[in-house]
Amino acid sequence: MAKVLIATVKPFSAEAVEEVKGVFKKAGYEVEVLSKYPDQSDLIGAVADADALIIRSDNVDREVLEAAKNLKIVVRAGAGYDNVDLEAATEHGVVVMNTPGQNSNAVAELALGMMVFMNRNRFTPAAGSELRGKKLGIHAYGAVGRIVGMVAKGFGMKVYAYDPFVDSVIIKNDGVVCEESVQGLYSKCEYISLHIPANDETKGSVNFDLLNMMPEGATLINTARKEVIDEAGLVKMFKERSDFRYLSDIAPACKDDLEVQFKERVFFTPKKMGAQTAEANLNAGVAAARQIVGFLEQGDTTFKVN
Ligand code: 3PG
Repeated sequence: MAKVLIATVKPFSAEAVEEVKGVFKKAGYEVEVLSKYPDQSDLIGAVADADALIIRSDNVDREVLEAAKNLKIVVRAGAGYDNVDLEAATEHGVVVMNTPGQNSNAVAELALGMMVFMNRNRFTPAAGSELRGKKLGIHAYGAVGRIVGMVAKGFGMKVYAYDPFVDSVIIKNDGVVCEESVQGLYSKCEYISLHIPANDETKGSVNFDLLNMMPEGATLINTARKEVIDEAGLVKMFKERSDFRYLSDIAPACKDDLEVQFKERVFFTPKKMGAQTAEANLNAGVAAARQIVGFLEQGDTTFKVN
């Protein structure tokens, strides 16, 4: 009997866990749930006899993979897999997958929600400002970026996108202006919503020079990863541009300083919560479970990332 470990420091909703368990019950698998675990050693201990592992932002490093003697597959229930050591997984013969698109709507809604919240003075009565007619630049037009664009158009925003990996026809067919360069995007749009993954090419790539191209009213919205921001450049931007605002679901290392020095111009969610909706938990959790069964029973490697 195959054993699946669901290891989520940030737990899925109870409903999602029940649905996920149902998929495995049907397949005749054993399931162990390890949620809100206080220490990485808990994961290392629990993974020892697992054949399959479902995670969220949990850290699957070389040590975890070395402890997981039976492990055949890890599915990151979500989009970004920068928390998994792909090289070590491949060395250990472990397949890694994500569940692209399954939690995108939740993340996109949060990005727009943060924009409205800040524009309406954190829901206080002082006169705020509207999104209608403003320019929004979507930096990376994947599953989340595409929904952000669609919703923003509903608000009456003018939407632009830059993504060298997406055919410009797809962007244009959505009624979005396709920018040829990242500089073009930043220099046109007073709002930029980040949707790039964190990898060797993107880490620290959103720097002062790029941000400083943004027109008056520059507002950066980050529901992607903190690592893509050059934090020194971010601080410089705050110091040199009194119009600049930063709204993020992923606190930077300099969060406390920014909150003290530029209180009115920053907003950080208390904890990363972009994908934390009942719907996203259910979609991503069940997709992960089905992918595990598909792989273990039929060798289906759709969504393999290593
Ligand atoms: C993702 O990469 O799917 C999102 O960042 C959500 O991450 P989470 O599962 O840790 O909430």
